[in-house]
Amino acid sequence: MAKPDSLQSLYLDEIKDLYDAENRIVKALPKLAEASTNPMLRDAFNEHLQVSRGHVKRLETIFADLGEKASGKTCNGIKGIIDEGSDALDYDAGSMKDAALIGGAQRVEHYEIAAYGTARTWAEHLGRTADVQLLDQTLQEEKEADRKLTAIAEGNNVNEEARETPKLTH
Ligand SMILES: [Fe+2]
Repeated sequence: MAKPDSLQSLYLDEIKDLYDAENRIVKALPKLAEASTNPMLRDAFNEHLQVSRGHVKRLETIFADLGEKASGKTCNGIKGIIDEGSDALDYDAGSMKDAALIGGAQRVEHYEIAAYGTARTWAEHLGRTADVQLLDQTLQEEKEADRKLTAIAEGNNVNEEARETPKLTH
């Protein structure tokens, strides 16, 4: 891929990266939901799946406004995080598995929070006000998803119970 020669092309690269990331996340979330033991966690993953489909749509709106075709550029960051987190899918059902799923999902959220924050700032610099709003909405939803995962982990003592699970060998 050619080196970006302006903030505008750097920005387009970032949007492509996010587009690939969101599409990977939309594919991964049903597996996380299915693997969850705690029904609240399953609901949270399913809800975030719906929300993430909206994130894909917002990025498509941004591509259209830029006069660009919606296309992704392999997001090695999210690809790696999903790959690492997928080990947990094979764990035995229970709170330890849920704790591992939450740990992986929060890594995803934090990556997205960083990337959307960057994209929003660049959109501001480029004077792309409509994009700023779209990216900010998504950013807030990623933060909310992250908070919800923390609340589930703490509220239901997922991490607490995991510590007492004798099968903690990973
Ligand atoms: Fe997202």
